[in-house]
Amino acid sequence: MDRTQDPAAPVLLFDSGVGGLTVLAELRRLLPQAPVVYVADTAGLPYGTKTEAQIAARVAGLLGRLTERLKPRLVCIACNTASTIALGMVREVLEVPIVGTVPAIKPAAALTRSGVIGLLGTQATIRQSYVDRLEHEFAAGKRLLRHGAPDLVEAAEAKLRGETPDPQAIAFAAGALRSMPGGPDIDTVVLACTHFPLLEDELAVAFGTGVNFVHGAAGIARQIARVLEGQEFVRKHPDYALTTRQGASWAAYARALAGYGIEGVGAV
Ligand code: DGL
Repeated sequence: MDRTQDPAAPVLLFDSGVGGLTVLAELRRLLPQAPVVYVADTAGLPYGTKTEAQIAARVAGLLGRLTERLKPRLVCIACNTASTIALGMVREVLEVPIVGTVPAIKPAAALTRSGVIGLLGTQATIRQSYVDRLEHEFAAGKRLLRHGAPDLVEAAEAKLRGETPDPQAIAFAAGALRSMPGGPDIDTVVLACTHFPLLEDELAVAFGTGVNFVHGAAGIARQIARVLEGQEFVRKHPDYALTTRQGASWAAYARALAGYGIEGVGAV
């Protein structure tokens, strides 16, 4: 049967860790009836400190195996790092609709009044030519200040385990952007890593009043809904998550996952 005609075929949401849950939250609002499998490549976390070749090979290989096994109706790469590096390649090799995640520079450029935009992403994301192209296309005439903040990835993971995210990591990320030339004028910050909206409250305190945060989660969910328009959905069992770290205990995340409607966890 064509997978788009199987009403139980899931949407596969993929990230290196829990960041993709920020996309899942928006997807729930638009398509509450859509069955979802959430996959976290926890054995590969973090992606942001890896090379382009490592990330591309890992993501393409893993998504190839997962689509064979899970027969999703759509794959969402809910990770800016993987998307900015491997989206084109994955689209070429997989015969399933793929929705990616790219830094929300366009809405940020429309929102800024000072003309100075901060961008927080992983180290791998901020150096991508994909980001250069977005800046050129949508933020010409504005100033885009980029900072790679690997510690925020772990801080977001910790928060979802129910721990207090490292306040120093948050202060450091905000301070790094503020101390760049033009940094004091930042009025809009792009959260260009799906983990970072999980820390929006903490980042808002660190940046101080007058700063807006933008990220792509709602737009990505809308794009998924557009691609799936007219399809039927049947949820045959509760939504679940898979992780790549064999034997890893996700018990610490269970409460957070349940808040996103993820009721079981298994291994890839
Ligand atoms: N959530 C991922 C992103 O959107 C990256 C986290 C990582 O470094 O693995 O970029």
